[in-house]
Amino acid sequence: MNPDIEKILYSDEQIDRICCEIAEKIRKDHTGKDIVFVCLLKGSIMFYADLVRKVGLPCQLDFMAVSSYGSGAVSSGRVNIKKDISCDISGKDVIIVEDILDTGNTLNYIKGYLEEKSPASVQICTLFDKPARRKKPVSPDYTGAVIDDLFIVGYGLDYDEKYRYLPYVGVLKPEIYSS
Ligand code: IMP
Ligand code: MG
Repeated sequence: MNPDIEKILYSDEQIDRICCEIAEKIRKDHTGKDIVFVCLLKGSIMFYADLVRKVGLPCQLDFMAVSSYGSGAVSSGRVNIKKDISCDISGKDVIIVEDILDTGNTLNYIKGYLEEKSPASVQICTLFDKPARRKKPVSPDYTGAVIDDLFIVGYGLDYDEKYRYLPYVGVLKPEIYSS
C-alpha cells in the first residue's frame, strides 16, 4: 500500500461491484434514449470509463474540466469552466459523471449550466457523496457510496494531482494535507 494512505476504504473489487450496481440502474432508466455521459475531468476518468462500458447502451461521450479546488483540500467555492462540452445535448438525456460530491458547489453550477442547453434531462451520477459537507442543495440521481467527512484519494481522486493512479480508494493521512 502507498505509505501516504491511512487505510483502504474501497478495494478495486468493491469499486467494481459499485459500478455494476449503478450501471444496472442507469440501463433500466435510459434504455432506448439518446444518452450523453458528461465526464467531469480529471477525477472522474476511471469511474467514467468503467461506468459507460458497464452500462453498455449506445451513447455519446463528452468531457468538461472545471476548477473549484485549486491544489488544496478545501473548496474555494468558485467554479470556472476550463473545458466545455463539444456535442449538442438538446433533447438528450444528460448524465453528469462525478467522482465525489462534497459541498455541491461544482455540481450545482454545472447542472444549471447544462440545463440551459435544452436537454431532455440532466442527471447526476456520483461515485461518492459526502453529505455532511453540503453547502448547495444538490441531490444525486445515482450514488455509489455515501462516506463520512474524510479526504480520500485513488481511482482518479487526487490530492495536489497525486494518487489518481491508485486502483483502490484510500483515506489520505491527515499529516499529508495539513503540512
Ligand atoms: P464540491 O464542489 O465541493 O462538491 O467539490 C467537488 C470536487 O472536490 C470533486 O470533484 C473533487 O475534485 C474534490 N473533492 C472533494 N472531496 C474530495 C476528496 O475527499 N478527495 C479528493 N477530491 C475531493
Ligand atoms: Mg475533481
